[in-house]
Amino acid sequence: MTPKLVLVGFMGAGKSTAAAALGPGAADTDELFVARHGPIAAFFDLHGEAAFRAAEEEVVLGALADPGLEAVALGGGAVGAAGVRDALAAHRVVHLDVGLEQARARLGAGAERPLARDPERFAALWAERRPLYETVADVTLPAAGAAQLPELLEAIAVLDAAPAGTRLVFAEVAGRVAYPAYVGRGLLAAGLRPPAPGRAFVVTDGAVARHYGDAFADAAGRVAVMPGEASKTIAHAEIVWTELARAGMTRADHVVALGGGVVGDLGGFCAATYQRGVPVVQVPTTLVAQVDSAYGGKTGVDLAEAKNYVGAYHQPAAVIADADTLDTLPAAERAAGYAEVVKTALIAGGPLWERVRGGAVADAATVLACAQTKLAVVAADERDGGARQVLNLGHTVAHAIETATGYTAYRHGEAVALGLLAALRLSGLDDLRAEVAELLGAQGLPARLEGCSPEAVVDAVARDKKRLGEAPVPFVLLAAPGDARVGEVVEPRALRAAVEELAA
Ligand SMILES: NC(=O)c1ccc[n+]([C@@H]2O[C@H](COP(=O)([O-])OP(=O)(O)OC[C@H]3O[C@@H](n4cnc5c(N)ncnc54)[C@H](O)[C@@H]3O)[C@@H](O)[C@H]2O)c1
Repeated sequence: MTPKLVLVGFMGAGKSTAAAALGPGAADTDELFVARHGPIAAFFDLHGEAAFRAAEEEVVLGALADPGLEAVALGGGAVGAAGVRDALAAHRVVHLDVGLEQARARLGAGAERPLARDPERFAALWAERRPLYETVADVTLPAAGAAQLPELLEAIAVLDAAPAGTRLVFAEVAGRVAYPAYVGRGLLAAGLRPPAPGRAFVVTDGAVARHYGDAFADAAGRVAVMPGEASKTIAHAEIVWTELARAGMTRADHVVALGGGVVGDLGGFCAATYQRGVPVVQVPTTLVAQVDSAYGGKTGVDLAEAKNYVGAYHQPAAVIADADTLDTLPAAERAAGYAEVVKTALIAGGPLWERVRGGAVADAATVLACAQTKLAVVAADERDGGARQVLNLGHTVAHAIETATGYTAYRHGEAVALGLLAALRLSGLDDLRAEVAELLGAQGLPARLEGCSPEAVVDAVARDKKRLGEAPVPFVLLAAPGDARVGEVVEPRALRAAVEELAA
């Protein structure tokens, strides 16, 4: 049997909209149910939920086995049945992901949906079902993209050539689905190629090229910078632009940024500016890049005066995060990435934080959960107007440490580890600070500031680029895991004490 595209998701996610956009080969099991048994609400009221679920399962299994259908949208509760979940294994499952408040707003009063009548039950159901949808899904598509599904089929079809277990998450930017992110293992070895125009021109660094130079052997051109933060400068951007031009890259081609955050930021910036902008496929190979920097479109270079001071927003055309590449990552780099994992888990709270505090480090599922957290934050605020600033948790002090030490003493992630400890102290969460210090320490991350004075760090904070005009530098503080607050004012004395504590 040819696999079908199966749409799952909560009430209000837009499954019917997506099915309708796909055309006559698609069916909606709620509609099939109504055709066979009459209105759902009436059936529910007359026979109860158990009888409804049994009848629904029969309808769903019938639709999944119907050779005349190419796509099937399932009723919101259908995945609750083990029989349905088993049957889904043979199909390409798309989770149309809708937030709780978004679902409420889309349903309005929800009078005709039996389970939407009671707001508390509605919220509990949403929380209960979301993990179920994610368990069965191959693809996560933000609800905003429901009507775009036909144009996304090419990116979904890429999964046909991907190793089993590969997950595809679509990123939403400014209310639209903007690009696919593939997360899994063995993606480079399988030669995965996302939809991207023209020829590929690889930007990488020497160390990554040694390990993964063969991964894009079909590329039309290649430029490798020296590994490390020192390559994230405008002088290196000029080298990359020049090499791309010499290799004959045109506006119809795309850049592949193959490497860690340095290559991603530099390659993304060069793509944003080369001939006024060409697409970039981000292929992150470090933990920092796979959980954080590859998504969201921030690109740029450092100045001697401060990090990331020159850049552009340039969303990727696609992201390929292959967790297998983390196997060759030096231990210290993996540890540095772990600091970003902890940061992301603190911002997300919930299951991700529980997973990380329980000992998860860099498995593909953790990478996926971190990527989804970052994508959700960016979807809400692409250009750092407010909500996106939560991602800066720990970073104000981290960037200041990097600046004060001339970018040489600490890896970015190591500075983030110190910055997180300062942020948690400033948040007044002493127990959480102790727990996080233990997690970070267990991965070999530094708990002590060395190589510069606390004053130099405090001075560098004052020059942070998040500062607007003469206003004090806004901090991100945490009320609890999952509850980060942006734009917080920190007393200079408290900041000095938190930084001095790091140096003690
Ligand atoms: N754009 C964003 O949103 C964002 C977010 C976070 C961090 N960043 C930036 O990311 C940068 C840090 O990124 P990073 O920590 O990935 O550093 P990096 O890119 O310098 O990589 C670290 C080292 O690991 C090597 N390496 C990379 N992949 C490897 C692999 N698979 N096997 C073996 N070696 C490998 C590299 O050659 C390098 O020496 C900083 O410049 C930071 O500002 C950007």
